[in-house]
Amino acid sequence: MNADDNRYFWPHKDLLDVTQLSPEETLHLLDLAERFQDINRRPVKKVPTLKGKTVVLFFAENSTRTRTSFDVAAKRLSADTYALGKSDSSISKGETLKDTALTLQAMGPDVIVVRHSNSGAAGYLADLLNCSVVNGGDGWHAHPTQALLDCFTLRQTWEGNFSGRTLLILGDIAHSRVARSNVHLLSMLGVSVRLCAPRTLLPAGVDAWPVEVYADLKQAVRDVDAVMCLRLQLERQQAGLLPDLAEYSRRFCLDAGHLALAKTRAKVLHPGPLNRGLEISDAIADAPASLILEQVSAGVATRMAVLYLLATRRD
Ligand code: CP
Repeated sequence: MNADDNRYFWPHKDLLDVTQLSPEETLHLLDLAERFQDINRRPVKKVPTLKGKTVVLFFAENSTRTRTSFDVAAKRLSADTYALGKSDSSISKGETLKDTALTLQAMGPDVIVVRHSNSGAAGYLADLLNCSVVNGGDGWHAHPTQALLDCFTLRQTWEGNFSGRTLLILGDIAHSRVARSNVHLLSMLGVSVRLCAPRTLLPAGVDAWPVEVYADLKQAVRDVDAVMCLRLQLERQQAGLLPDLAEYSRRFCLDAGHLALAKTRAKVLHPGPLNRGLEISDAIADAPASLILEQVSAGVATRMAVLYLLATRRD
C-alpha cells in the first residue's frame, strides 16, 4: 500500500474521540485495519508507506499496550518514532504541557500521540498544534483507538454483523475512558450495550447513555454475545467508593459460572491491564473464549490505519 491509495477523503486532522467519526468513516478505518492485519501476518511485517514521516509518542501517563502498539504500528509503516514519558522529560522539572508540546512540534513531527491523566489534554494540544494529534487516552474522557480496536476484534468475531448483538461492559465504568468510547462507538454501529457495576462505580448522567444498566451480574450476563471486563482503577478510587474489595470481587468478578449464562459461544474482552481475581477470574482470562490477546494484535493493525489516515490525508 502506498500513500496514493488514500483516495478516501479523511476530513479529520486529529483523532480525539470516537464521537467525531461517522459510521461510514469508522467502517472505512476498520476495512483499512484489516488490510494492515494481512501485512502483520507476513514473514516480513514492514511496508514503506509512511517512509519519511515522523510519529512522536508523548506518554505523560504510563502505558504498555497503547504506547508499544503505536510504536510498532508506525515502524511497520516505516515511519520514524520518538518516545517521551513524564519521568524522562523536562515535565519532571516543571515544564508545562504547552511548552513541551510546542517544543516537540518544532522538531517537525507529522503525528503526535498523547496520553495524559487530564481529560481534554489531547483536545488542548490539537487546538495548539499544526500537526495531527491522536488521543492515546485522556483522563476518564476518551480512548478512541482502544474502542476502534475493540470494534475491530468484535467485527472479526461476529463476521461483520454488529446488529442484533449484545455486549455487556462490566466493572469500573465511572473511571473508564474505554467504557465511554466503546458505548458510543458500538451503539452507533447497532450493538445493544449493557452496563453492570455497583452504583458508586456508575458515572453521573448514565441514565442518558444508550445502555441498559444492571446491578446484578447474573441478570446482566444472560444471553449476551460478549462481556468486556474493565480494570478496577484502584489508583483513581476516591475514599468510600469501594470499601471492600473482597465484596466487589464476590459480586462483580466474571467467572465460568457467569459465562455459562451468556450465549454458547460468548467471548470475553478486557482492555488491560488485568487485575486477575478482582474483575476477571484467572480461568476466564486464559480460557478459549478470551479475546484479550487478539485485542492486543488488533491494536497494532488499527493504529496502523489511524496513523496512515492522518499522515497521508490531504486538506
Ligand atoms: N488498554 C490500554 O490502554 O492499556 P495500556 O494502559 O497498557 O496502554
